Amino acid sequence: MLIINTFTQIQAFINNAKNESKLIGFVPTMGALHDGHISLITEAKKQCQVVICSIFVNPTQFNEAADFTNYPKTLDADIELLKKHQCNVLFVPTENEVYPKASNKIYDFGALDKVLEGAHRPNHFNGVAQVLDILFSKIQPHKAFFGLKDYQQVLIVEALCVQQNFNIDIVKCSIVRGADGLAMSSRNVRLSVTERTIAAKIPKILQKTKQYILNKDVNTTLQLLKKELSLISEISLEYIEICNPKTLQTLNNMSYPAVVLIAFKIGNIRLIDNLELTL
Ligand code: PAJ
Repeated sequence: MLIINTFTQIQAFINNAKNESKLIGFVPTMGALHDGHISLITEAKKQCQVVICSIFVNPTQFNEAADFTNYPKTLDADIELLKKHQCNVLFVPTENEVYPKASNKIYDFGALDKVLEGAHRPNHFNGVAQVLDILFSKIQPHKAFFGLKDYQQVLIVEALCVQQNFNIDIVKCSIVRGADGLAMSSRNVRLSVTERTIAAKIPKILQKTKQYILNKDVNTTLQLLKKELSLISEISLEYIEICNPKTLQTLNNMSYPAVVLIAFKIGNIRLIDNLELTL
């Protein structure tokens, strides 16, 4: 596996690969890799001849300084994992390489970034858009792979590609969960054993949406879910919403397909999850 730190080097590599008519797949990450990230690499390997993974903990998307500072960094283990899964190139730029001068670009995603994560993490998606704008325009992959774990992020990325005229096929990959059902997340390593057991109750509660919604309206369903969540004293709920899967606007009346999305804190660790609801 090639490890590259500069855009000049990665562009030279990509030009070569494109001259050989190879399909380039790109998997952007912030490192601390787990099976969720690896599922994206595996899918990219299936669909493309060259797979590039980037690791860059993007400062502009963190709305809490402590979250940025505490973000897990496990580069040596990440390299081993990527090698094991036959990733072709790892791109690890410095902050100065990505932002030679601070980005002050402001994006307009309309209603999409005003809800859910956008409402609770001011400027988060603007930061995600800033870094992906730079990575996409320099790397220009044919395909980029994203996890549905970050449901709203994928929709923002699709909107970004339309706005910036990126000709990139955005491939959405399913959520990978641990044996206990908890969605894999780089932040999970910060959970104690007890906290993890508690956090693993959340996906089970999300699943109950499917039954409740059969007999109850959206509001009553949400009230039932919130009541169950309130019984877990260690968890503080930020939001739980049932939404249209394309616009992420809340549904007043149930219609399919839909998605139920949740954000909660356990201790000072913030986690998100979601479940698609289909007929
Ligand atoms: P990060 O949190 O490292 O996630 C990188 C990619 O892995 C994202 O597309 C995310 O949705 C996916 N992913 C994480 N956990 C997953 C799981 N359990 N199952 C499936 N996919 C999962 O998302 C980011 O980094 C950043 O915002 C980034 C896009 C790199 C921009 O900085």
